[in-house]
Parts: sequence; structure tokens; C-alpha cells
Amino acid sequence: MPDFERGARSVKQNRSRNALTRRDFIRLGAGAAATGATAKVTLLEPRAFRAATRAVPPSDTLRFASIGTGVRGCEDLKTALSCPGTEMVAVCDLYDGRLTAAQEVARKQLATTKDYRAVLDRKDVDFVIVATPDHWHAKIVEDACAAGKDVYCEKPMSHTVEEGFAMAGAAEKYNRIVQVGSQRRSGIVFAKAREIYASGALGQVTAIEAWIDRNDASGAWVYPVPPDASEQTIDWNRFLGSAPKRPFDAKRFFRWRCFRDYGEGLPGDLYVHLLTGILTITGVNAPPERALSTGGVFRWKDGRDAPDLIWTFYEYPDFRVAVRCNLNNESPADVTRIFGTKATLEVKGETLTVVPQNTRPQPEGYSIFGWPEKLRNEYLKEWRAQHPDPAPGNYSVVEEAQTFQAPPGYEDQIDHMNNFLESVRTRRPSAEDAVFGNHTAIACHMANYSYFNKAVAVWDEAAKQIK
Ligand SMILES: NC(=O)c1ccc[n+]([C@@H]2O[C@H](COP(=O)([O-])OP(=O)(O)OC[C@H]3O[C@@H](n4cnc5c(N)ncnc54)[C@H](O)[C@@H]3O)[C@@H](O)[C@H]2O)c1
Repeated sequence: MPDFERGARSVKQNRSRNALTRRDFIRLGAGAAATGATAKVTLLEPRAFRAATRAVPPSDTLRFASIGTGVRGCEDLKTALSCPGTEMVAVCDLYDGRLTAAQEVARKQLATTKDYRAVLDRKDVDFVIVATPDHWHAKIVEDACAAGKDVYCEKPMSHTVEEGFAMAGAAEKYNRIVQVGSQRRSGIVFAKAREIYASGALGQVTAIEAWIDRNDASGAWVYPVPPDASEQTIDWNRFLGSAPKRPFDAKRFFRWRCFRDYGEGLPGDLYVHLLTGILTITGVNAPPERALSTGGVFRWKDGRDAPDLIWTFYEYPDFRVAVRCNLNNESPADVTRIFGTKATLEVKGETLTVVPQNTRPQPEGYSIFGWPEKLRNEYLKEWRAQHPDPAPGNYSVVEEAQTFQAPPGYEDQIDHMNNFLESVRTRRPSAEDAVFGNHTAIACHMANYSYFNKAVAVWDEAAKQIK
């Protein structure tokens, strides 16, 4: 069902406690009530600076290297190359197959290495893209900043709370542009949602819910292991890095998200996107005050320690947030809902819908049924006298569901990468700097802390730690 239809239906469902009165008819408008189609659909304009719209002089070309060129690293380098004025010069990965894959995506022979420090030593590298598993982000980002490179670092920014602050500190100390790769931060749908939220059109917002669900092996990170995976083709010891030492295990290498040693499970994989969207819309740039999680490994019992269902309740000062990810059911897949006293805003994929609440004055319709009929009738008569219907000819539609949609083919990651490149060129702060990236990462760490410790995670702002 198209979103505008769903929006219109919600308006009507919200008022099911009262029969459709003449007043309701006025609100919806005669045509709307007859057809059920009240939503106005607006196509959002892509940003002006999008790829291929602007030529960059050769002297402004930015040269980059990718560190970590698995699934996301290859997507990121492709995105960077699709932006005007970029050139890729080197690639670093720990698996031979990925060094090959990166060059295939770049359509060019590149300098290759399994030691990222060799990339950082190159004078012709302006910035690096870091798309390794999460447990390597901090060390590489800090070393890159110290080497004078700007950094596009994939989300979640950090593997631990302490790392996040060290990364933000390195960006500041070496005066580097560090942008975290949560692309919702630059997306036009979330920018529109932010505008609507800031206008006050939603009224007072006290509750937010969001989820991303999946129901297949790939969604549960059960990725196939390439047939040539071995200690000859993979630098296993370097992969372990600061993680506990253990014998070669190709499943851990390719399915690292399942294990806390290398990733943050569902919070690091997916909460971070939901939280980036929520903080972008609401304008909050801080960790939550408290978090409480529940969940478990119910279905994908393959030795993983990361849960396949997790549900977390967050406390932010002005509102509460319920976030969940479920790898055991998908219906529907990716939703953020913001509940205000005047309207509900929903982002579902690339579609944003705002459905007004019924806020006009109404006579009491519930408790007066406990009154004697005479008093009840007098109350209703007086109420109607104080709230007369508009004169004929003055009826108007005062509330309407609205839908905004990104154009077909729109990709927020292109806007996010373009924002990063603009920051590198202009030295203006990035769209998702290390401070913001750290705040969403802390929220992910709090969700995991609560899940694994079976306790409420409390953010201690003074000590900069979870207690
Ligand atoms: N923004 C998004 O939408 C998005 C989507 C997917 C993944 N990600 C993030 O991107 C990162 C990578 O995820 P992925 O799915 O591509 O993982 P992946 O396993 O497909 O790729 C990771 C690559 O990093 C390499 N690597 C590991 N340690 C390294 C090191 N020390 N030096 C150089 N290379 C190293 C591995 O060899 C591997 O090829 C993660 O942080 C993930 O959360 C972001």
C-alpha cells in the first residue's frame, strides 16, 4: 500500500473512538472523506552539489587510499570515486581477495599493502577511508590523524567508550577532518524531518520508536566464506589486533559482527543508523542518560555471542526512545516514528509521512456517560454553544497528512561522501564529526552494556564512562 494511503487511513483510525461527525467531515474535507486520500506527496530535491553536477579543477583533486575493502569498503570507494575531483591511489586490506576486489571496483591497478602504516606514509594521500571491522577503527583513525590525513571512518565510530574520546581527541589535536560514516546524517529525508521537527509542527515530542528487522541468513551475518580463505591469503594475526589471540578461524574473519571481540552486534551494525536519524531529527548531540536492554540468541545459535534480538529503551532528557533489531522476523523492515502531541512523523525507507493528531476541542465523550441524562444534555448543549460549527461556506481542511519522498535512485551515502569532501576542501566541520559519532557509538555501547550485564546502563558525563 502506498504511504499516502496508509497515512490517510491512520488519520481516520485515530478518531475511531468517536463516530464521524459533521465536524470531522469539515476537517478531512469532502473529497478526502469520500476517497480516503488526504495526503499531499512532495518529491524532495537532491542537494545541489551532488556528484557530476560540478566540475572540480585538477588542482583540487583529492587523492585517497582505502583501508579495509570488504563489502562496505568497496561501496565507499565506489561512492568516493563517483564524486567530482577524487582519485584513488592505494588500497590496504588483510585478505588478498579484497585487494583484488578493490582494484576491480576502482578499475585501476593500485599500490597494495596489508600494513595500513604504509598507506599513511604516502605523501600523495590526502584522506583515507577506514572500513575495517570496528575493533580496528580507533587505532587506524588516531594514526591517520597523527600522519596528517583526513579520515572518513565507517560507523560505529568506536569499539569502546574510551576509544571514542581518544579518536575525537586525535581529530582535534591534529586538526583533521574526521567524518563518521552514518549516511543518514546527510540524507535529504532526515533533513526534511529535522525541519518539520524544528518547526514545532509535531507539538511536544515525548516518545520515539525505531527498528530495523531482518529475516534471512545474510541479514544475520551468516556470510559465505570464500573458498580460498586461508592463513596464506589472510593476515590473521593482524586481523586480531588488540582482540584476544586465537587460532585461525575464517568464520570469525568473515562473520566478525557475531563476536564482541571485533564488533558491537546489532547496536553497532544497525542501532547506530536509527540513533543517527533520531538525533539528527531532534537536534540532540549527546549520549542518552540511561539505557535498558533485553534480548537473546534465539535462532542463530552458531557460536556467536551477539544477540539475534535486542530491544533497548533509552532515556534522553526530553523524550524516551525504544529501539529494536530482530533477526527473526521482518515486518516492515526499517522504520522511525516520532510521536508528538500534534502529529506523528514516520520515516520508512526513503519516505517521510506526517499524520496530524486530532487536536481540535471535543466535548467529553466518555466520563459523562456516568452522569444523569439531564446533566449530560446540559453539558453538551453548553459545549456546543461555546464551540459553534463554522458558518456554511467557511469550511476548510485544517489538517492534512503529508508525505515527502526522496527521488527514485537517491542515495544518501553520496550526499554524505560529498559533504566529507567539501569539508576536506574547505576545512569546515564535517556533517558527522567525531563528537557526534562518539555520542551515537556511546549509545550503542550502553545498549550492549545493559544486555550483557543484565543491568541499567547509566551514562556518567563527568567521568565519561558507563556505570
Ligand atoms: N555505513 C553503512 O551503511 C555500513 C554498511 C556496512 C558496513 N559498515 C561498516 O563498515 C565497516 C566494515 O564492514 P564490512 O561489512 O565491509 O566488513 P567486511 O568484513 O566485509 O570488510 C572488512 C575488511 O577489513 C579488513 N581489515 C580488517 N582489519 C584490517 C586492518 N587492520 N587493516 C586493513 N584492513 C583490515 C578485512 O580484511 C576485511 O576485508 C564496519 O565498521 C561496518 O560497521 C557501514
